[in-house]
Amino acid sequence: MSQNTTPVLTIDGPSGVGKGTVARIVAQKQNWHLLDSGAIYRAFALAVDAKGIDIANEEALGKIAQTLGLEFKTELSNELVSVYLDGKDVSKILRTEKTGEMASKIASIGVVRDALLKRQKDFAKPPGLVADGRDMGTIVFPDAPFKVYLVASVEVRANRRLKQLQAQGSKGIISQILAKVKARDKCDSLRKHSPLKPAKDALIIDTTGLSIDEVITQVVALIEA
Ligand code: C5P
Repeated sequence: MSQNTTPVLTIDGPSGVGKGTVARIVAQKQNWHLLDSGAIYRAFALAVDAKGIDIANEEALGKIAQTLGLEFKTELSNELVSVYLDGKDVSKILRTEKTGEMASKIASIGVVRDALLKRQKDFAKPPGLVADGRDMGTIVFPDAPFKVYLVASVEVRANRRLKQLQAQGSKGIISQILAKVKARDKCDSLRKHSPLKPAKDALIIDTTGLSIDEVITQVVALIEA
């Protein structure tokens, strides 16, 4: 079955808005596949960094994108998705702020986005797909029947990030996190290729005053409507 016949739910939005959590829970509820497209850009950035490739070398970047040995495994025991790069578990380093910043820089390069496009489209398999990222509804799955765009104030997103760090046993300084979230917003929204923006037909949900459960209820209602 092709992407055209597989139902796809796209969830886009800025950093720290809760896309990943919402996508994972909705995918579990629906028993659909999950695409964490940010993880692909993060893993790609790690591979480029490990190989010491200059990000101005577009030909080398294109080659790495074609040959990236990337595998996602769902650990049923803790419901987390582990990511393997060339056979090595990179799940922890993948989620660091530094990797996110490298990913954001590299994701602004057109040749990288083009080379990673098919890899993302291939996730659309029956019985369905939940895809989260920045351009799922606009570029990767423009024909998706269900599109959501999550927003929340920058302060709320920075606070959520702080709580996430604290839950992982790390410390964070709110003013620094706030500055980083703002910088990432700027980088992702102002870039030339696939800038962060809602698809015209996306349902925009402001999650500022909502719990995760309330957001999930709205998203599931969209699919079941
Ligand atoms: O969502 P996450 O924070 O893991 O994404 C890391 C970076 O990868 C983002 O800041 C963004 O620049 C880039 N990205 C993208 N397009 C996507 C997903 C992520 O450009 N579909």
